[in-house]
Amino acid sequence: SHAVTICPSILAGDFAALGAECRALGEAGADWIHVDVMDGHFVPNITFGPQMCAALRPHVTGVMDVHLMIAPVDPYIDAFAKAGADVITAHLEAGPHVHRTLQAIRGAGCKAGLAINPGTGIEAVGHLLDDIDLLCVMTVNPGFGGQSLIPAMVEKVRALKALTAGRPIRIQVDGGVTLRTARSVAAAGADLLVAGSAVLQGGPAAYARNIAALRDAA
Ligand code: DX5
Ligand code: ZN
Repeated sequence: SHAVTICPSILAGDFAALGAECRALGEAGADWIHVDVMDGHFVPNITFGPQMCAALRPHVTGVMDVHLMIAPVDPYIDAFAKAGADVITAHLEAGPHVHRTLQAIRGAGCKAGLAINPGTGIEAVGHLLDDIDLLCVMTVNPGFGGQSLIPAMVEKVRALKALTAGRPIRIQVDGGVTLRTARSVAAAGADLLVAGSAVLQGGPAAYARNIAALRDAA
């Protein structure tokens, strides 16, 4: 279907060499690098914080796409913006004042992303469309890489594509994007495909091939 952008997630990379992973992904043709920040509270896993993002920034040639799976989120927005994030995505479910969070992200000079968990309906999103640049549809329950895409999410992507029609909002899908599933989410309207295991499997020598294969599959 239409041209999609692949956003490799370094969650699937070698944590002892994440700078090198970012460089290798850039050289392999990745225009975006997706950075999964987890706090062991909003999601049942812990990764890294703003200091890691600042350290990686010089190794990212394209867009640094920071996905915050943390609660609370507001106290950390400025730190991730200062660390060099281009896009900061916060979860609708992370607190009672998501509108304030989205305004704070733009206020910090970043593009504002809104992520929604699989169990969250699309109704609440309709009131936030003026305040988002990117809508991240979680196609797995966040916390871990390597899970299977939840099939019911394809219809959700389609509904959100219709809801955002005519607006400058990019639709991203995150979780379980593989050679088998990329086409269905792209056909449903996703512009940005996050992919961890599907891109990073096989190590750096395979990244260019894996990215190209995913683009072709979509
Ligand atoms: C899941 C993360 C995803 C994850 C995707 O909580 O938000 O970005 O890295 O990994 P794969 O592509 O392996 O499902
Ligand atoms: Zn993510």
